[in-house]
Amino acid sequence: MQVISPNLSIRPVSASVNEDGHLLIGGCDTVQLAEDFGTPLWVLDERTIREAARAILSGLSNYPDARVLYAGKAFLCLAMCRLVRQLGLGLDVVSLGEIYTAARSNFPPEHIYLHGNNKCEEEITFALQLGEVKIVVDNDSELEMVSRLAERIGRKAKVLLRVTPGVEPDTHHYIRTGQTDSKFGLPLESLPQVASRARENSRFIELLGLHCHIGSQAHDIEPYMEIVDILAECFLDLRQSLGIEMTQLDLGGGLGIAYTEDDEPLALNEWSRLIAEAVMDRFTTHNLPCPTLLLEPGRAIVGTAGVTLYRAGHCKELPGGIRYLAVDGGMADNPRPVTYQARYTPVIASRMHAPRPQIPVTIVGKYCESGDIIVKDAYLAATTGDLIAVFGTGAYNYSMASNYNRTGRPACVLVADGRAEIILERESTADLLRQDRVPARLLND
Ligand code: LLP
Repeated sequence: MQVISPNLSIRPVSASVNEDGHLLIGGCDTVQLAEDFGTPLWVLDERTIREAARAILSGLSNYPDARVLYAGKAFLCLAMCRLVRQLGLGLDVVSLGEIYTAARSNFPPEHIYLHGNNKCEEEITFALQLGEVKIVVDNDSELEMVSRLAERIGRKAKVLLRVTPGVEPDTHHYIRTGQTDSKFGLPLESLPQVASRARENSRFIELLGLHCHIGSQAHDIEPYMEIVDILAECFLDLRQSLGIEMTQLDLGGGLGIAYTEDDEPLALNEWSRLIAEAVMDRFTTHNLPCPTLLLEPGRAIVGTAGVTLYRAGHCKELPGGIRYLAVDGGMADNPRPVTYQARYTPVIASRMHAPRPQIPVTIVGKYCESGDIIVKDAYLAATTGDLIAVFGTGAYNYSMASNYNRTGRPACVLVADGRAEIILERESTADLLRQDRVPARLLND
């Protein structure tokens, strides 16, 4: 069977253009989607998500026991939880909101992993009460907290310890996490001490394994090969020095996607295959049993599936020749450009055959910040009234969106086989007032 790796393409796998020059996604005409659901609109292509999951799983098919946990922080809602489960993936969650969403979608607790560098009692208690949720412990004092809460509830917590391997992928420094000065995880030197503490607490703690995550939007395999080496050594050391046997190895997520033509990430199936082969090789060399291998991709599953539709508003040309085209969204629905200088690829969804102009236009948002630029210098003959599509917005757009300037978050539709269904309603102005309260003394005037 042919394996498609969606992360190599800028567009969703189902994208096409019809005879009117309209962009179609999942068999749906984006011009019609904008009419039916309004703009800005997040469109999520189900086929791309399915192909991405399939590609990662296919690379793991020769490994005795491997699982893929979708990192919910990239994009999570009830429908996504259901889809993730249908695809046979587990789930990585990091907050009460995420674990609650998973629970409400009836996600099987044994396939949920709770992360976070400062989990609160409420989050840990919720996880323990759900049952078999695994807790990825970040530090020593958190281990103590988990043990105490497990005792209180009368349940044994299944934990993994997160280590900081000192490996840095080539990515923006805000989204690196594996370096030794990271706020995440345990330095390697303190692992034996914390692992033995876990063992001392074995009435309430079951130490299943180790976790690490080096960062996000990584393109190369080398850092992953390094962490396999380092973590295999950790398994060996803990066995030899303390007699601790562990069964799970979680190597995190982080594989990147192509946002622009300059991005050349590794294919999803290659990524998982090379990691699985390396784990098998190192563990066998150390005479260790192959652990259950876990990978936690977020962006690589959902990033390419997402397209944001905007309506182009005012256009202006400055005396120096700079051209700006403002759209009806921006940094509140996509904070990545302003936060990480992230780059995107836009098209005119309503006129896909429009010729490439000589002079570029900068597509800006409508928010009150000069940094609210969606795409700088796009070679698009776009003008007022056009429908603009920006690719690659499936990950870390909705999940990082805000209500800046008191703007409601856009709606999100899931498209497949010519059908579009709302999975996130648009926030209305009434929604924006839902939490407002006015002290009585301000009411009498
Ligand atoms: N596992 C852990 C423990 C993580 O911290 C993350 C991401 C992932 C898995 C999934 O990483 P992914 O496969 O999606 O790269 N907001 C940033 C990305 C932050 C990622 C945080 N952790 C962005 O928009 O680029």
